[in-house]
Amino acid sequence: MRAKAEDLRRDGKKIAVVPTMGALHEGHLALVRHARARADVVILTIFVNPTQFGPKEDLSRYPRDEEGDLVKARPAGIDLAFCPSAEAMYPPGAQTFVEVRELQKPLCGASRPGHFAGVASVVTKLFHITKPHLAVFGEKDYQQLAIIRRMTRDLDFGIEIQGVPIVREADGLALSSRNAYLSPEQRLAALSLSKGLAAAEAAYKGGERDAKALVAAARAPLAAEPLARIDYVELRDADELSELERADQKAVLAIAAFVGTTRLIDNRVLGG
Ligand code: PAJ
Repeated sequence: MRAKAEDLRRDGKKIAVVPTMGALHEGHLALVRHARARADVVILTIFVNPTQFGPKEDLSRYPRDEEGDLVKARPAGIDLAFCPSAEAMYPPGAQTFVEVRELQKPLCGASRPGHFAGVASVVTKLFHITKPHLAVFGEKDYQQLAIIRRMTRDLDFGIEIQGVPIVREADGLALSSRNAYLSPEQRLAALSLSKGLAAAEAAYKGGERDAKALVAAARAPLAAEPLARIDYVELRDADELSELERADQKAVLAIAAFVGTTRLIDNRVLGG
């Protein structure tokens, strides 16, 4: 892959990379289409990265369908797919990690220790292997996108990072590979995340700026849903992810909740 990327660069091609863990859905394909419109060569990476899963998380049962993924990705506009094995990515003795010290602490970082070090490190490796000019990520994983932007700037990767808006089902549920774990009842209960965000946005549009009130509006549908268990609901600065008492600047309302054993996340940017 690295040799191929070097050839493409030598030929003056603009390379875009779309990193994924596979089990592709329309959210991933939106990233591919975004990349297709902005680069000469689009590289899709599929790698279920073990270092970003905690010991009690779903690594072994994470949905895998590489052939199905390629069937979906080709018409969306990929030129190359890079699908390494875990052994190729982490040969024995691997021990170097990239940490984005502050941005990795709150929100998902607090509930998933080590997760973002795993993400930042594997994305660094994928960048070095695919040598992109442009890399495309979803706003669905809002904190991940903030961390990758920061890392790219801090470590001078010289790669343009672009975010793509969240793709949702018609009823509001954010697309996620993990939605495949949900039973029909849980699928309905999962709507409480997007309902919470819609309630908070309605309050915001009605002039509410107090963080506690916005968070309370977002929590209500989740608290009323017996199948959902809140991990966090927080309002934070949209760029620094610092705590906010008021949504006077561009802010992100971020939710993580368990529905059964499935952990789901969603967010909405307010203002800005
Ligand atoms: P994965 O969960 O497969 O997501 C790959 C990319 O698709 C991420 O940038 C994610 O934000 C985006 N995405 C997922 N669902 C989306 C949706 N509904 N709308 C828009 N974009 C969506 O995120 C990862 O993999 C990994 O952490 C990775 C970056 C590949 C590193 O291992």
